[in-house]
Parts: sequence; C-alpha cells; structure tokens
Amino acid sequence: MLGVRGLFVPGPTNVPETVRKAIDIPMEDHRAPDLPTFTLPLFADLKQIFKTESGQVFLFPSSGTGGWEAAVSNTLSPGDTVLAARFGQFSHLWIDLCERHGLDVDAVDVEWGEGVPVETFAEKFKADTDHKIKAVLVCQNETATGVQSDVAAVRAALDDAGHPALLFVDGVSSIASIDFRMDEWGVDVAVSGSQKGFMLPAGLAIIGVSQKALEAAQTAKLPRCYFDFADMIATNAQGYFPYTPPMTLIRGLRVSVDRLLAEGLDNVFARHRYLAEGVRQAVDAWGLSLCAKEPKWHSDTVSAICLPDGFDSGELLKHAYHRYGLSLGAGLSKVAGRVFRIGHLGDINELMLLSAIAGSEMAMRDLGVPVTAGSGVAAAEEHFRSANPAAGVKLVAAE
Ligand SMILES: Cc1ncc(COP(=O)(O)O)c(C=O)c1O
Repeated sequence: MLGVRGLFVPGPTNVPETVRKAIDIPMEDHRAPDLPTFTLPLFADLKQIFKTESGQVFLFPSSGTGGWEAAVSNTLSPGDTVLAARFGQFSHLWIDLCERHGLDVDAVDVEWGEGVPVETFAEKFKADTDHKIKAVLVCQNETATGVQSDVAAVRAALDDAGHPALLFVDGVSSIASIDFRMDEWGVDVAVSGSQKGFMLPAGLAIIGVSQKALEAAQTAKLPRCYFDFADMIATNAQGYFPYTPPMTLIRGLRVSVDRLLAEGLDNVFARHRYLAEGVRQAVDAWGLSLCAKEPKWHSDTVSAICLPDGFDSGELLKHAYHRYGLSLGAGLSKVAGRVFRIGHLGDINELMLLSAIAGSEMAMRDLGVPVTAGSGVAAAEEHFRSANPAAGVKLVAAE
C-alpha cells in the first residue's frame, strides 16, 4: 500500500514521531547508577497527569487489564463485595476479572449506551449501613459503546452516604484525554494504559494509587506477586523497579508526558472534545445515531456509531480496511455487527480525522448504507472551520 494506513481504532493510537524516536534507542542498564535521575522526576510528573499530590503512580509492564488486576488484588480479600455496573464490554470484563478473583460482585446491568447509574449506586450506598461494599468500580469511558460516566458524581454519592468504599476508576481510554482528577474526586485506584491517551505502544499499565488504597493493601488478603504494590513502593523509592522494566516504553513515556504537560491538560481535554464534536457532526449528517443514548454520555475519545438494520459493521470494517487502508473499531460482544467505532484520541488532528470520516463514508456507501456522499465530511469540516482558536483551544498539539 502507498501512503499510511489510517489507524482509528480507539487504541492503540498513533504514536507521535518524537515518542517513536525516544523509544528507538539501544538497550540500557535498568540498574544503572544514574537511572534514578531519569525515573524519579518521571514518577513525580505522572502525578500531575493523574492530578494527585497525595497518591503514587506505578508503572507495571502490562496492558490495562493488568492494571485492573493490580487494583483488585492489592486492596481486597476473597469474598469482599464490590459494586459495579455493566454497560459495555470493558465494564463487563472488569467485573469478570473480579469474579475470577473470588469477589462477590453486585453487578448492576445497564442498557448499553448509558453509563454508570449514579442514583442506583447512591441508593445502594445508603442501604449498605454495615459497609459490606468494599469497593466500587467506575469505567469512566466505556470504549465499547463510546460512553463517558461521571466519576465526581459517584464520589459525591459515596460522601453523601458517608460510605467508606474504595473508589476504583478504569481510565484506560480517558486518562490523558478526558478530564480526570484523582485527588479532587477521591479516587483510590485509577487505571490507565500506555496505548491510548499516552500515545505509546501497548505494554505499560499506568496506575494511580491513593494512600487509602495503600493502607487497604496492608490487610488485603487476595494473593498477589507480580502486581504487588509493596514491591513497587520499595524499589520505586530509589528510582528502580522490582523486575526488568520495559525501559524503551518508559523512555517514550517521558516524551509523552512532556508533550501533555507542555500542551496543558486543559487544552488536551478541550482538543479531544473539539475533535470528537467533528465526528458527532458527521454522524448527525449521515442520519445515523451514536450508541451513546444522550449527549451527557458522549465520549470525547471514541464514537460508537450504529448502522441501520440490515447492515453488518463487521463487513464494513473489512471493506474499509482492504479497500481504503482504514482501521476502524469493531462492535464488541452485544453490539457486534451493529456498531463501528471511530477512535479520536491521542496524536491526531482535524485532517487525519477527516480522512477517517471520508473513509467511513465511502465504505458505507460501497456497502449500500444510505448516507449522502460527502455529508459527514462537510459537516465535520464546517465544525472545524467555525471553531475559533481564540476561544481557547489550541488546535495542534505542542511538539
Ligand atoms: C476502557 C478500557 N478498559 C480496559 C481495557 C483493557 O485494556 P488492555 O487491552 O490494555 O488490557 C480497555 C482496552 O481497550 C479499555 O478500553
């Protein structure tokens, strides 16, 4: 194929040139005497991304799933009750992981397309007067359905009920892209991964942990070894790791964190919203709907788009890939065949996104989906053209 393939799955995302170069280095000694001069400032700067002063951020060589496991296995004991809501494949998989760890999950099933049912959670916190619920799981951005949930509202519900449960957030497809405030929202474990907003290859679980979670780890009985916070704390304090770290990824992370901080997190969040809005305008112009049922659920990192009845999104994905060199996200599990997803997070700009919209549009038309030629592209273009940089969004990420 000539040119570049379009990568618009919601992770792995495109890796910026500066990050790619930072990764492409000779192997190094991970026990070198001067390594801490590199790692200690990085650990400190990661806290800015998570917006925590009192917590710690750990880097585990793993994908995001390992971050889920770290959260659970360090802080909970067999048979503990966990409250969670299932409204997409990723919220489902975290519940499944908890169950496989012998936890008693109170899983509230919610229609796919909606997010965390805060009122139901609030009632459960109030009713749980003997505090059986030890942790509550919130998937801040359900990547399968393109649904964002309100973490602050769950914190408010916990506080309102005076409930001491730990608050765990899956921020795999939100942290470093969508507003996230670990200390302000009282988040106890925040899980992210390298391959989305951090614009790196997969391979690092990046986890923010509160002091309250670290205290819970003192008495928690679930078995753990590889993901043990205690081993990380002991070695990180000197700037090292309990086992061989993926130093190339961590060198890349340094550059990615520099980029995010230089751009400013507020701009990072506004930029994701602005790009997402372009996709949403395109979807409207196509006459299609998002899987996310209401604007309050709209995700700024991924849009899951419903195809009309009678069309198979799996076929659309194959066609877009083979005919136009465009990778889009598949519909997963319950929405398999019905939705396709456009990832709009990480290192992308307006013109890249227009190519994804154009490719989706052409592929849909090729399969007979009744969308008007150019309609989505035109709507997104007009959104981008009318955006006023003076209004505050710096449109191109800082190099
Ligand atoms: C919201 C969310 N949570 C968890 C995961 C699992 O992460 P990983 O595939 O990196 O293990 C993903 C992956 O896409 C995700 O989108």
